[in-house]
Amino acid sequence: MTPRTQSQATPIPQTRQAEIIADLNWTLAHMIDISTSAKQAHWNVHGPNFQGLHDLFDIIVDEARQYSDDVAERAVAIGGTAHGTIQDATKNSTLDPFPTDERNWQPLVKAMHGRLTAMSARLHDLIHATEDDLNTQDLYISIQRTIDKRAWMLEAHLHE
Ligand SMILES: [Fe+2]
Repeated sequence: MTPRTQSQATPIPQTRQAEIIADLNWTLAHMIDISTSAKQAHWNVHGPNFQGLHDLFDIIVDEARQYSDDVAERAVAIGGTAHGTIQDATKNSTLDPFPTDERNWQPLVKAMHGRLTAMSARLHDLIHATEDDLNTQDLYISIQRTIDKRAWMLEAHLHE
């Protein structure tokens, strides 16, 4: 039987379904990468607005973890297997490695901002590629909207 998504009655061909599941796992790897990188920044940041950035980085952690859960469960709900180990994330994330010895707030904010905008650009492509699965598309739109908001909040710190 050809699997169906919950969002429509028209069956999606199995090859396309596999592609949607692969893209969800790709997104899962990136959400795990962003959540661990934001935690790294949350722990190490220092500077004049320590508390604001310490809190903002942790909000990004929480949101990325929630979206990890959402994309993993969407992959399984449409017949796939979620690939969410730290090894999967390391293998599949295309984001640059997050700086590990940085303490200064400015490079940490720039590093996180750059990763969020890169992720947003890729989500833009995924949103347009999922016209055939509106439920998954809706999830990507939600992730992009949240990421864009956090990128804006990070960037606001960089203006004198
Ligand atoms: Fe903490």
